[in-house]
Amino acid sequence: MLTPTLIKLPQLKDPRGSLSFLESQNHIPFDIRRVYYIYDVPAGESRGSHAHKNLCQLFIAMSGSFFVKLDDGLGNLYDFHLSNPSEGLYIPSGYWRELNRFSSGSACLVLASLPYDEGDYIRDYDVFKRYKSNG
Ligand code: TYD
Repeated sequence: MLTPTLIKLPQLKDPRGSLSFLESQNHIPFDIRRVYYIYDVPAGESRGSHAHKNLCQLFIAMSGSFFVKLDDGLGNLYDFHLSNPSEGLYIPSGYWRELNRFSSGSACLVLASLPYDEGDYIRDYDVFKRYKSNG
């Protein structure tokens, strides 16, 4: 998958509550090498403002909600509102992202295809545009 995609995850609902799950290479198209999460985001703050050269990710709104804007640097823009723990936003490598409008108490779980590497980040938007337009 080369474009951002909302992936519906299995959801088992019964009177005791709901359970969702996912497996690498089955429900998501990469092996999970790292997990992190974003939480306690103050009202009005945003996260992101970078792209990754090689990293693929899945974002899940474990609680609450937030907005994700994606930009491929070539004129294609994508807007998502994540609020459902039974779906995940797959973000391939090479997308500039902005996360904002976090609701109070929200938490974003991120499953990532690679260990943390600052060298995989592009944190300057003009550098990102040049990187993408050079193929
Ligand atoms: P960053 O990815 O810029 O956060 P966000 O996209 O939510 O705005 O990371 C913020 C800081 O945390 C940065 O100094 C790098 C560090 N960090 C790690 O050390 N390990 C990790 O796995 C992640 C995701 C970030």
